[in-house]
Amino acid sequence: MKKNLFIVIAMAVSTLVSCNKPQPASDEQVINNIMTRVSVRQFTGERPSDEQVQTLLRCAMAAPSAVNRQPWAFIVVDDPALLKQIGDSLPNTRVQNNAPLCFVMCGDLSKTMEGEAQEFWIHDVSACTENLLLAAHSMGLGAVWCAIQPNAERIRKARQILNIPDNLIPLCIVPVGYPAEQPAVKDKWKEENIYHNRFE
Ligand SMILES: Cc1cc2nc3c(=O)[nH]c(=O)nc-3n(C[C@H](O)[C@H](O)[C@H](O)COP(=O)(O)O)c2cc1C
Repeated sequence: MKKNLFIVIAMAVSTLVSCNKPQPASDEQVINNIMTRVSVRQFTGERPSDEQVQTLLRCAMAAPSAVNRQPWAFIVVDDPALLKQIGDSLPNTRVQNNAPLCFVMCGDLSKTMEGEAQEFWIHDVSACTENLLLAAHSMGLGAVWCAIQPNAERIRKARQILNIPDNLIPLCIVPVGYPAEQPAVKDKWKEENIYHNRFE
């Protein structure tokens, strides 16, 4: 009797523990999310919740980085006056199209490796950006990757508006909100972009 009770308790505990582990989504859900993401450049103005913003940041920070240096910093901008300045000065960011907030995705040069390996920050922050775009899409939010780096003038403007310190370099700005447009999914499959083994 005691033994049976022990087994039941052990099974209950093991079920609870496994429920707390992050469960991977099914292949189909993950692949469908990747294949249906599109850039959204028009927003309703409705603000994503704080929990959604937190999840997006968690997903960005889950990205791989060279030697796991995580040389990044993310500025969440939701102050209407700052959003207006960004939209006016950097119209390529689409923030002026009713975006309730945007993420400024930065590299942190104080956390990078030395020498030529310093350039890995661009790869690392790009990985964060793609993670954030895919997470936003999975939550029914729209977003678009808007280039700041390597354009010196855009970097200067972003620095000036947000008072960004010298060690941070803004790579891109990602406005996020509820979509006010439903762009068609693009078919980008091109067989001619694939090569096998070595070039003779
Ligand atoms: C490095 C990079 C820079 C981009 N810069 C901008 C930009 O400044 N403004 C913009 O509206 N979209 C920008 N985009 C979004 C692209 O235009 C978009 O990803 C491309 O047209 C493919 O469309 P899709 O994202 O809907 O698949 C950028 C994308 C990347 C990856």
